[in-house]
Amino acid sequence: MIERINNLTKVIEKLTAKNNEEIEALRIKYLSKKGEITSLFNDFRDVPNEQKKEIGQKLNQLRNLAQEKIKSLKESFGNTSLTEQDLDLSRPCEPIEIGARHPLSLIRNEIVDIFSRLGFALAEGPEIEDDWHVFEALNFPAEHPARDMQDTFFIEKNPDVLLRTHTSSVQTRVMTTQKPPIRVICPGRVYRNEAISYRAHCFFHQIEGLYIDKNVSFADLKQALLYFTKEMFGEKTQIRLRPSYFPFTEPSAEMDISCDLCGGKGCAFCKHTGWVEIMGCGIVDPNVLEMCGIDSKIYSGYAFGFGVERIANLKYRVKDLRMFSENDVRFLQQFKSSH
Ligand code: DAH
Repeated sequence: MIERINNLTKVIEKLTAKNNEEIEALRIKYLSKKGEITSLFNDFRDVPNEQKKEIGQKLNQLRNLAQEKIKSLKESFGNTSLTEQDLDLSRPCEPIEIGARHPLSLIRNEIVDIFSRLGFALAEGPEIEDDWHVFEALNFPAEHPARDMQDTFFIEKNPDVLLRTHTSSVQTRVMTTQKPPIRVICPGRVYRNEAISYRAHCFFHQIEGLYIDKNVSFADLKQALLYFTKEMFGEKTQIRLRPSYFPFTEPSAEMDISCDLCGGKGCAFCKHTGWVEIMGCGIVDPNVLEMCGIDSKIYSGYAFGFGVERIANLKYRVKDLRMFSENDVRFLQQFKSSH
């Protein structure tokens, strides 16, 4: 018995293996139920009692040695169940799919970026608003026909609570909480009770701009909008301001940009005028300043507002507005590279 144990000890000490499969074969050969070491344990029953202590110790040492050996061999192969064929370190890794930003977010970020270079800070307000911030403080008295310009969603029966119809409400929020000089750009979602079609939706996005300081003039407004247009649409793009009406600005204007599809010659896109309308703007009405607690004898300001979808349509030539909210991945994926 002792001799068998000694011989096996020498064999175990010298064991080597080339891979995990060979290690497993060794484990079976020596340590499994029918393995050589296990069979020595079985024979241990017949060992005379006076030798049991000595042989028992040797047997245990042999088993420990075998277990250690197998363990250290496994560790030398990374202790995994992978075979060499499975492990190919030169294989390229699985490509990780990353999402794309929504086209409206891309446009909004670009616009905010352009105005931030002119010193405009970001401001936001609530989508569920009260009548005062959306209409009253912006010079739309109750029953004023100008309210019909924006078909409003009211919240339940309380006519004082509504979904904002324009981001001009953020102007009011900022003017009542901050002191001039104020220079903010306010992106956000707005809601109007419109029939949904390829060119109108019951919700869309606007960007509002507001600048209030001493001696702000129409020339300042024009220059800021010209800078924005050239940054957004390219150096060659021209602007045109037409007189218009908004209750909260006086004088008011609408701004067109030259149609870059036909280069201003006239095409179906610009309805053969060579110009595309993109925003409303003007000098903040002194009434509005006063209602928001700003002294109109000391301060003046300009404001402008426009739709993000409209700018996105111009930039990406999306003909149907509904695509922006349907979340069809085939549409959204096209904006992947423009991070
Ligand atoms: N709030 C207007 C609208 O939703 C857009 C607008 C026009 C905003 C003139 C302005 C502005 O700040 O001065 O149609």
